[in-house]
Amino acid sequence: EKAGYDHFMLKEIFEQPKSIGDCLRGRLNAKEGHLHLGGINDYVNKISNADRILIVACGTSWHAGLVAEYIFEEYCRIPVEVEYASEFRYRNPIVGEKDVVIAISQSGETADTLAAIELAKSKGATILGVCNVVGASIPRTSHAGSYTHAGPEIGVASTKAFTAQISVLTMMALMLAHKKGSLTESEYRKLLVELEAVPDKVAKCLDLNAQIEIISEKFKDAANFLYLGRGYNFPVALEGALKLKEISYIHAEGYPAAEMKHGPIALIDENMPVVFIATKDSSYEKIVSNIQEVKARKGKVIAIVTEGDTDIAGMADYTVEVPAAHESLMPLISVIPLQLLSYHIAVMRGCNVDQPRNLAKSVTVE
Ligand code: F6R
Repeated sequence: EKAGYDHFMLKEIFEQPKSIGDCLRGRLNAKEGHLHLGGINDYVNKISNADRILIVACGTSWHAGLVAEYIFEEYCRIPVEVEYASEFRYRNPIVGEKDVVIAISQSGETADTLAAIELAKSKGATILGVCNVVGASIPRTSHAGSYTHAGPEIGVASTKAFTAQISVLTMMALMLAHKKGSLTESEYRKLLVELEAVPDKVAKCLDLNAQIEIISEKFKDAANFLYLGRGYNFPVALEGALKLKEISYIHAEGYPAAEMKHGPIALIDENMPVVFIATKDSSYEKIVSNIQEVKARKGKVIAIVTEGDTDIAGMADYTVEVPAAHESLMPLISVIPLQLLSYHIAVMRGCNVDQPRNLAKSVTVE
């Protein structure tokens, strides 16, 4: 059942070219300029006229929500707020009939997310579910939604569900943007082509596995890790840190790289590994200076960079090259080496990768 892999997590990481492909299949056809999410078809008008979009989720799904926030605001020009479901449900939030709530959940059973939906629904909001498990409570409670079609995810640490969630949310945003006219036809067509190319690029990232295993060996005994990214790669930093802490039990924190100097920089010394997600995008120059700041304090830098980037290679201790992509789609690619890094470190530390201590796949109690 693990198809020759040592763990479900590794199998699921390697399934991503296929799971993302399955998620896009039948919905996206770049050549024809076709994009269709059947599950939300009846709500496209409602969503494009929404006052705002509220995204509620927990854990990794919340990170997918943060990526979606940037994509929706950029392409649809609709204000988006992303909230932890557990906070939303208990803080008397302002929500009404013109709000659209997107609930993201792999299992579709997370108690806090379900309760957040029920609260928003009672106030008249429209609820869209983005879930993986077909027929689960969240999709049943939602007015509409789109499944991620990633297939069963057995490893407790979420991997392929995360990339499928981002794929669905990106399709939603592009569909709305096209409908609203907030993207030009040519930008829209270009993004469809880029999105269709993601599975092959993810496959290229998987070829980095052996290199990442070597890097993992160097850092497996670290006590702490920092993950830094900007823009679309900021949620990827959070996700990389979460993956590492949950399966290897190494303390890790993700930050927007610019926040480093507001505190975390105090932690940096020769024992602190810092993972930078520093692909070529609109904040590239800024993140390069952040790398220099870490090196000046003797931190150890592992940088995820765009193929052919020699500038960062000259500064970082280790660089991992990923294929170039449109910056809004980069999280689908840049997260792959981070999943592999946490996997190998956890295995080397003798941890139970598929069933980390204290964690459950589906958190049905609050
Ligand atoms: C992280 C992880 C958890 C879940 C969270 C939400 O790897 O697995 O953080 O992402 O419990 O679960 P779902 O998506 O099922 O609502």
